[in-house]
Amino acid sequence: MTDFARVRTEEQILDVVRLAREVWTEYYVPLIGQEQVEYMLRQFQSEGSIAAQLADGYEYYTVSHEGKMVGYMAIVPDEDAGTLMISKIYVRKSGRGHGFGRMMLEFAESICRERRIGTLWLTINKNNSQSLAWYMRMGFKNAGSIMQDIGGGFVMDDYRMEKTVGGQSLADDVQEAAPEE
Ligand SMILES: CC(C)(COP(=O)(O)OP(=O)(O)OC[C@H]1O[C@@H](n2cnc3c(N)ncnc32)[C@H](O)[C@@H]1OP(=O)(O)O)[C@@H](O)C(=O)NCCC(=O)NCCS
Repeated sequence: MTDFARVRTEEQILDVVRLAREVWTEYYVPLIGQEQVEYMLRQFQSEGSIAAQLADGYEYYTVSHEGKMVGYMAIVPDEDAGTLMISKIYVRKSGRGHGFGRMMLEFAESICRERRIGTLWLTINKNNSQSLAWYMRMGFKNAGSIMQDIGGGFVMDDYRMEKTVGGQSLADDVQEAAPEE
């Protein structure tokens, strides 16, 4: 069985910190180098920075299969703008290719439907070609380049990817609200 747990406690945050270090070191060092990975882990995936993100509207979820953590995700829903940013979506190396990433994406899409949000978006490193191909397969479109200065002499050179979430629930609601002939 696969479970999603919303991260709220210090212990859960520490689980994310450990998993982030494992996945980011394994996956990103070949792409952006050890120095930038260490900097980004300190800036964005330390206990303090995750706690600050949670206070600022980020929602973190851990994903476990048969009781073992296989991945985590972070999302930033913005109901007013009608958008949901996928800030983090990571599956442990040993768990990749077993449908967990798809489940996480479907989870994010279900939150969009619940909260009447129509657009999913995220940024991805331009050299992360494997995951870029995965997003395309999952229905995302490339919406252009985005360069962000993250301090410490580093920049993130990314693409912005977007996906429109099926608006069935919205359309259904409109139909239900219409008076019958
Ligand atoms: C990207 C990632 C989240 C995808 O999760 P995953 O669990 O490996 O993917 P899934 O098994 O759910 O894949 C779903 C489908 O995409 C296919 N797929 C997997 N990797 C693919 C790839 N690189 N390109 C195209 N299709 C791919 C799978 O075969 C599967 O197809 P199916 O449903 O027809 O069987 C995961 O591989 C990962 O954590 N990668 C490293 C970190 C990363 O780059 N994260 C994104 C940061 S922006």
